Amino acid sequence: MNRIYIGNVKDVKLDSGVELCGWVQYVRDFGKVVFFVIKDRTGIVQCYVGAQSEKLLEQVKALSMDDVVRVKGLIRCRPEDQINPNMENGDIEIEVEDLEVLNSCAPLPYDVNGDPSEFTKLKYRYVDIRHGELLTNLRIRSHASSAIRNYLSNNGFWEVETPYLTKYTPGGARNFVVPVRQQPGYFYALAESPQIFKQILMISGVDKYFQFARCFRDEDLRADRQPEFTQVDIEASFITEEDIYALIEGMMQDLFGQVLDVKVDTPFPRMTYDEAMSLYGSDKPDLRFEMTIKDFTKEFSLSKFNAFRNVVESGGVVRGLYWYAPLDRSALKVLDQAASGSGNKFLFVSKSPNGLLTNGPKSVLAEETWLADGTYVFAAGNESDVLPFLGELRLALGEYLGLSKGNDYKFVWVTSRPMFEIAEDGSLQAAHHPFTMPDVTSIEEIQNAPLKVRARAYDIVLNGVEIGGGSIRIHDANLQRSVFEILGLSDEEIEERFGFFLDALSCGAPPHGGIALGFDRLVMILCGADSLRQVIAFPKTKSGTCPLTGAPARLFASQRQELLPIFKQIIEEGG
Ligand code: AMO
Repeated sequence: MNRIYIGNVKDVKLDSGVELCGWVQYVRDFGKVVFFVIKDRTGIVQCYVGAQSEKLLEQVKALSMDDVVRVKGLIRCRPEDQINPNMENGDIEIEVEDLEVLNSCAPLPYDVNGDPSEFTKLKYRYVDIRHGELLTNLRIRSHASSAIRNYLSNNGFWEVETPYLTKYTPGGARNFVVPVRQQPGYFYALAESPQIFKQILMISGVDKYFQFARCFRDEDLRADRQPEFTQVDIEASFITEEDIYALIEGMMQDLFGQVLDVKVDTPFPRMTYDEAMSLYGSDKPDLRFEMTIKDFTKEFSLSKFNAFRNVVESGGVVRGLYWYAPLDRSALKVLDQAASGSGNKFLFVSKSPNGLLTNGPKSVLAEETWLADGTYVFAAGNESDVLPFLGELRLALGEYLGLSKGNDYKFVWVTSRPMFEIAEDGSLQAAHHPFTMPDVTSIEEIQNAPLKVRARAYDIVLNGVEIGGGSIRIHDANLQRSVFEILGLSDEEIEERFGFFLDALSCGAPPHGGIALGFDRLVMILCGADSLRQVIAFPKTKSGTCPLTGAPARLFASQRQELLPIFKQIIEEGG
């Protein structure tokens, strides 16, 4: 095939012959000469047909947008007055010698220069990909995955695939289940992550594993969550936290260097979970700007501002953010919008030589002599409510002030998370997952005060986005069993769900640990995108549907017939 990419035309000598394939962007008909622009994934170029051939001229005049064509012609320098410095290949054009319409395109389902809805764009995703930035994002995604694969292979990691169709996998998210026709009443779960398998690979002696693993989670979706997403899943034996930190820091340096030509400084800062919460009000702090949370409990315990003094007197705290510049009303409105509806007690004060702007009583606050010029955002209440609330306001303020720049990359490790937390139903649950090694080895100590135990877990955060998380794992079967017991599982439940895994752990499990990076989130940041939908070729909407195919869909009559026995069985089993 002699075809070359349009993006490479500029490297070919003027007046040489080329063969290009692509989609027609537009046609400009000047009667005796017709120009048309074609595009492929690498670029665009203008082509023209003059009076050289009547037949060719007629052919070109009949072209319409997005027709698929093959053009053979000569690369010509454009006349001086037709050079377009704003267009790629704007100094050259193709004098067409032969044109083949490989396929014509029906009128496009929406105006690609208009402002179609997200749903329309997802329904006709191929049009959106072809015409928008998505092609660039897919190129970056592909570049990123090959850079990571090479890095891990060069560091001795083997890529091993693990099953998607598996058994219930614990991790906090609900599993999607798949009925099995051959065995009515029996279901696979779609793997929410390869966690148990990668640990079993360590027991199998694989030593260093990775996988670009698709994960499936039936959970509420947000801009940074999809029901199926990709992890760069990693596990290694005989390692410590330090090995994982060094591996991932090297990977990020390599990745950002290769894909964005950005130098990433290492080592990344580290922060405990408690520090992250108390300074940034978040377990995924955005370090692109400072503005940390400070304690103002003492100041308000002496204040005449009753609403807050009362909170302090009844055992609560007052925490706040300070920004050195006084802000205007519109900034305070942004904060007010971000804060309202939260149910938290808050107070904004912007103090300047010209006076006070506040949502509280001005005359009372004017007496607070400790208030220096600048802007304060205060919140009063329980520490566990106040900190995340201020964390949100910090982000809103940072965004309003333009402090969180897209091309600034600030990594941080967040460590020492609590091992357990209280679930919504009041039960104890694993904060990361139940295979995480606690930082104490005495089972009694864990049993006596589980909420005090810290996990040997770490999250990697980039610009306020959790791009990965992992831990050192429990490799002792007895300790693992005890953790299941502390989580309230009965002996039968442990046996049924994890018996196979405890067997494996008792059969020569090496000390091991690992991490999983959310690849889509990482690519989202590399692309400067603000939603995972912009970096996944065929994503789902917030409600989990795929407008392109119409999934999820009702079953066909024949499928219903096949599945009926399965559901009958479930109904008979009850509960
Ligand atoms: P975890 O559940 O923290 O850990 O997932 C690891 C990383 O995957 C990304 N992620 C998601 N990305 C898009 N959509 C989602 N719904 C979604 N959920 C998670 C995040 C997250 O940091 N087995 C463990 C890892 C381990 O311990 O090695 C696990 O899955 O970036």
